[in-house]
Amino acid sequence: MNYNKKTVEDIEVAGKKVLVRCDFNVPLKDGVITDDKRIVGALPTIKYLMEKGAKIILCSHLGRPKGEFNPAFSLAPVAVRLSELLGKEVVLAKDVIGEDAKAKAATLCDGDIMLIENVRFHKEETSKDKEELRSFAKELASMAEVFVNDAFGTAHRAQASTAVVAEFLPAVCGYLIQKEVKIMGDALNAPAKPFVAILGGAKVSDKIGVINNLIEKVDTLVIGGGMAYTFLRALGNPIGTSICEEDKLDLANELMAKAKEKGVNFLLPVDNTIGREYKEDTVFMSIYSDAIPDGWMGLDIGPKTQEMFAKSLIGAGTIVWNGPMGVSEWENFASGTETVAKAVAESGAITIIGGGDSAAAVEKLGYADKMTHVSTGGGASLEFLEGLELPGIACLMDKE
Ligand code: 3PG
Repeated sequence: MNYNKKTVEDIEVAGKKVLVRCDFNVPLKDGVITDDKRIVGALPTIKYLMEKGAKIILCSHLGRPKGEFNPAFSLAPVAVRLSELLGKEVVLAKDVIGEDAKAKAATLCDGDIMLIENVRFHKEETSKDKEELRSFAKELASMAEVFVNDAFGTAHRAQASTAVVAEFLPAVCGYLIQKEVKIMGDALNAPAKPFVAILGGAKVSDKIGVINNLIEKVDTLVIGGGMAYTFLRALGNPIGTSICEEDKLDLANELMAKAKEKGVNFLLPVDNTIGREYKEDTVFMSIYSDAIPDGWMGLDIGPKTQEMFAKSLIGAGTIVWNGPMGVSEWENFASGTETVAKAVAESGAITIIGGGDSAAAVEKLGYADKMTHVSTGGGASLEFLEGLELPGIACLMDKE
């Protein structure tokens, strides 16, 4: 797929109304933003547009409201945080394409910034009906003269404000999308070798596409997290009550056969930290075996595996990591993810953290600054690593 897209620098924006789709879908606790990485990620594009004297209309979704106004999903906390970060007031419209948004957009001066309310307050934003999507996208577009997509985290969604709006306005990408695509694209297409991918998370089924695509490219594939037990089961190991996708055992064998055929070093846990139940305070122990006894479940990779996985990263040229090695939000089962995070951070390789839980773990452990790139996309970075076309990028104008 062609990711060589026109950017915000390839289009005249001075004095123009520019609609910017951001991914401000940030975690909130009691109305307070607990991680503003996605807001910070949007700043370079917003600042560029301010400096150029554009009239900036920001839009985003937040959570999954059911197509109608709901204060719990308001972008108000985002407007406040953005104003703080930019040192300039970001006005929040009370609606999305209603009277207030249109009136505020009409009176913007050059360099001003406004934020319209959550685009998912309209059910048309995510509609399956093409005409509904188009008519909502057209209304959004009517407020502006240029569309900039900088919502990498939502680029895998073909929704009105992420893709369809590009039918009605000249459409380019912002700096965040440009950066995400460049770093991850280079890693996939011309990786510094050896190329190691570490994949974790609960389910093989969530990662089939990524494993399939990466097997073609990597030298080493490291598998941890809950999905490792489906692979171990497929190899005939006893796995006790560990999570296992019985219907994916054949597929797991096919993937391992493909890795072998391609000469990929395929690493699975050789020991485990196991618990009685899937509970934070369950009885637990580490066993020096890849066979899990009856009545126990694997909840983290064991110490030998941690050492083996960390060793596999020594001398790597590129490392891509997606998915925790165990139930990392529980202290007793966080050690595998912590060891891998440290080893990735200290590897000296080009390091890419593919969003979601592994990005949160790296942030929490204070290693984010040591990584080459921590993606702002969860589902989007997974689909990118799968080699799929992202509709929010495909819709933008190609560079000549
Ligand atoms: C995400 O957090 O992955 C993006 O913001 C997309 O959100 P969605 O899964 O609700 O479309």
